[in-house]
Amino acid sequence: MRLGKRLTRLPVALGLLLGVLLTASGCEDAPSILQPRGNDAAEIRNLAIILLAICGAIFLIVQAWLIYNIVRYRRRSAEEPVQDHGDIRMELTWTVIPILIVIVIFILTVNYMDVLTNPPSEMEIDVTGRQWWWEISYPAEDFSTANEFYVPIDETVRARLEAADVIHSFWMPQIGGKTDMIPGRINQSTFTITQEGEYLGECGEFCGVQHAHMRFLIFAVDAAAFSQWVEQQQQPAAAAEGEQAQAGEALFLSAGCGGCHTIRGLEGSAGLAGPDLTHVAGRTSLAAVTLDNTPENLARWIDKPQEVKPGNLMPEAAVSNDEIQALVAYLEGLE
Ligand code: CUA
Repeated sequence: MRLGKRLTRLPVALGLLLGVLLTASGCEDAPSILQPRGNDAAEIRNLAIILLAICGAIFLIVQAWLIYNIVRYRRRSAEEPVQDHGDIRMELTWTVIPILIVIVIFILTVNYMDVLTNPPSEMEIDVTGRQWWWEISYPAEDFSTANEFYVPIDETVRARLEAADVIHSFWMPQIGGKTDMIPGRINQSTFTITQEGEYLGECGEFCGVQHAHMRFLIFAVDAAAFSQWVEQQQQPAAAAEGEQAQAGEALFLSAGCGGCHTIRGLEGSAGLAGPDLTHVAGRTSLAAVTLDNTPENLARWIDKPQEVKPGNLMPEAAVSNDEIQALVAYLEGLE
């Protein structure tokens, strides 16, 4: 009997432990697949709940049966217990039931896969995963941005996914499932966001030391706000205003920043190794959602990129503090 009690306590104890660990790790801030804001994520959540219910039922039945048998057939005397074996009905039952369960799960999964892969597609974006940031291009609208982008709600977006260096994985937990981004190959992911908001996306495949700092933000807005954002993104960069910003603009070119970064409208700045900075001041974050986009953080990022995000491709530029302030003044003017 004591063993039976211990066995029933085990799942409860494990559940409590898991709860404590999740709370302690601050997981309440992470985007949850249990709170979907897109059609695909809702389908995946539903399937996950059905699978969890089936597995939970199997777990409970097996545990109950195990405990019952431990108690019912425990050794009561020194005699050897009688063993039954070769019950053909029982053998058949526990062969047929799992087959039926697998068939049901298979049908459900194929059905969801069909729903997820064949929606009507309305707009296209190209997303390229790089160590460790995201390049997002709107081919029809003819512009590129990085790490933060907008999509209209209730419209199906087809994302064509590529990787420039190693394998990454495109994942927006509240919007849809993960899709691998593989160098030399284009994978596709379609999604529809049903509720306005700001959603966190992340790389779902380990891709090097800064994998955890490879995140992005997707803003789902109504059609009017989306058009407005597109129009604004299509504009070339604003010219530097004021002495400090003008000095920063000149420095951006002379210090070599333009060799890695594109600023549309600034001649000599067409590099493709780093994020497009044409409208960098309009973003809420820096370095693939590693830092909030504030003048202090931008200065820190330019000064010590290897301290903020060790291993990333941005070199420490040989510039003085005053020069960093000039670069910040220029870049923070690029709304
Ligand atoms: Cu990119 Cu992990």
